[in-house]
Amino acid sequence: MKNPTLVNHPPVVQLPTDNRPLVAPIYQSVKFSFDDVGQTTRMFRGERDGFFYSRSSNPTLRQLELLLAELQGRDDCLLTGSGVAAIAACLLSLCKQGDHVLLFVESYGPTRYLVQNLLGRYGVTHSMLSIEDLAGIERVLREVPIRLVVFESPTNPVTKIADIEHLVSRAREAGCLTVLDNTFAGFHNHGNYAIDIFLHSLTKYASGHGDVMGGAIIARHELIERMRKDLVSMGPTLDPHAAFLIQRGMRSYFLRYERQCANALRVSRFLADHARVKRVFYPGLKSHPQHLLAQKQMRDFGSVVTFELDGGYPIVGKFSEALRYFAIAASVGSTESLVMPSQLLGGTEFNSAERTLSLITAGTVRLSIGIEDADDLVDDLRQALEGAFI
Ligand SMILES: Cc1ncc(COP(=O)(O)O)c(C=O)c1O
Repeated sequence: MKNPTLVNHPPVVQLPTDNRPLVAPIYQSVKFSFDDVGQTTRMFRGERDGFFYSRSSNPTLRQLELLLAELQGRDDCLLTGSGVAAIAACLLSLCKQGDHVLLFVESYGPTRYLVQNLLGRYGVTHSMLSIEDLAGIERVLREVPIRLVVFESPTNPVTKIADIEHLVSRAREAGCLTVLDNTFAGFHNHGNYAIDIFLHSLTKYASGHGDVMGGAIIARHELIERMRKDLVSMGPTLDPHAAFLIQRGMRSYFLRYERQCANALRVSRFLADHARVKRVFYPGLKSHPQHLLAQKQMRDFGSVVTFELDGGYPIVGKFSEALRYFAIAASVGSTESLVMPSQLLGGTEFNSAERTLSLITAGTVRLSIGIEDADDLVDDLRQALEGAFI
């Protein structure tokens, strides 16, 4: 073997079968091979296990898929390169021309965009209601044949809580599938409800450190298998190195989530008592209009605290810039705290009725609470509030 051949066929290091790494290695390989064509063909036919090409399957991704499915209480999962890719792929795979989707004003902006614009272009129609409009939901499900109900709980940014039991039971009666973007609530919440498909942005709590993006679709095996076929041809797969980092992030998922929730409760109580704060939205507060529903549905209340300052854009801007430990940045669920002032919260496409339902005003501020010391966070908020109103 000459050197140009050698560098393409490097020495193979085999581990003895009784000698295992404690952390699964990253299978940073696009291709996997068998020694004979027959076994490869058997794998294609589903007659034996194995891997062939990483766009369709990879052992590092499979480990993360199985972990997330089990945490969410379902038996299978598909991974994508971002949360939005999971939403887009799921919607495209499950809908066809002539279908109707029930969507909500409070849904994540790109989800609304995908249903209204992308699916719209392919002949899929939709109805958009408020997640709090239970009578409207019943009416639409009764009157229109619906393919999918796509929703979130808690919603972004004002943490409205969907009545999941109501939604799921009515959707079942109407014979349509329910899709819950469960990113804000996490993998340990809502699994006990008969939701057909869970979506997650792994960019948030799963990776947890703000340094890797990913998405997941979690459902029963039969639904995932149907979607897998489409996704392999659409190609939104996650890279094995990103899957490895997310897998590592998951080791501290519960510790981080618990600490973030405890910090969020502390921060929300401080804000609720502050004279310059008109209203606080955090499902863990007794004053939250759906606190009891949140308590029934969730084990904890998440790390997003939104509030309304007694002032408009200039005050909100001044407050956000005065914070020392909260960066002005997008996303939620990482170890560090973040702030999003009203100017950056989106919803510019809303008509005035939708804007009213969104509860976003010029004074709205969204905080994503991290794992820092709670006293530091509260002190920082106090000084920034004082600074904003000078
Ligand atoms: C509820 C929700 N779903 C999905 C996403 C999209 O995730 P990603 O940024 O990983 O594409 C986000 C991002 O903010 C989100 O808040």
